[in-house]
Amino acid sequence: MTDELVRMEHINKFFGRVQALNDVSLTVRKNEIVGLLGDNGAGKSTLIKILSGALTADSGEIYIHGKKVDIRNTTDAIGHGIETIYQDSALVTQLSIARNLFLGREPLKGPPFLNRMDQAMMNDVARRLLKQVGITKDIPPTTPISALSGGERQAVAIARAMHFESDLIILDEPTNNLGVEETQGVLRFVRNARDSGHSCIFIAHNIYHVFQVVDRIVVLRRGKKVADDIDPKQTTIEQVEHVITGMITSVNDHTTA
Ligand SMILES: Nc1ncnc2c1ncn2[C@@H]1O[C@H](COP(=O)(O)OP(=O)(O)O)[C@@H](O)[C@H]1O
Ligand SMILES: [Mg+2]
Repeated sequence: MTDELVRMEHINKFFGRVQALNDVSLTVRKNEIVGLLGDNGAGKSTLIKILSGALTADSGEIYIHGKKVDIRNTTDAIGHGIETIYQDSALVTQLSIARNLFLGREPLKGPPFLNRMDQAMMNDVARRLLKQVGITKDIPPTTPISALSGGERQAVAIARAMHFESDLIILDEPTNNLGVEETQGVLRFVRNARDSGHSCIFIAHNIYHVFQVVDRIVVLRRGKKVADDIDPKQTTIEQVEHVITGMITSVNDHTTA
């Protein structure tokens, strides 16, 4: 398929004797928002951690823009345009907002051998990005992360993914521990991601949130993919819940629901 961005094929992953993933394949297209659903322990986080380089698969392949790639760590993933935002995103709480936005990719000024960070530039970009992700309060970019609320921290993580022009932004339960308004902010971001040229994989506990923002729903159950192409516009939440729990095998199965 020409508009394919990422394809994971036949991914297997064991933790000791527990098979967390059993021959799972997943494709994400350009400008597509995919919802990844499944009960606790279904393998959602394991799957996306393999894509983001936090874990390696026991077997299986990953293709980006149709080319086979090796993702051995998060730096590899970022190099391939994949950014991940976790529930507790990897921000360094004692550093400023601006520093966190550029962590590991700090712009330099002056002669390169001096290795001096361009603080003013980082602050300028940070100010602009914070507005873009909906932080209207005037928070100076020099504020340490530790002084921010959960939603504000999430917004900083999202701003980072946006600034570095990631092709694919993965959000694993990004709204846990967030207030109502902050959650709306994250959902708005996911909904808008498509228009700004990004693709997303969105994992959330709250199936209503997933229904609000995604184009397609994929369901994992006990490490296996059991649904790949659920259209939230054509399907009820109840049907999807039944697929998640295994009460029905597909949303077209009307016999047992
Ligand atoms: N680091 C780990 N060590 C051992 N088992 C793990 C580890 N991470 C996940 N698992 C197991 O793998 C399975 C899938 O977990 P996970 O991917 O976190 O599920 P989900 O995100 O869908 O709740 C579960 O049985 C879980 O206990
Ligand atoms: Mg998880």
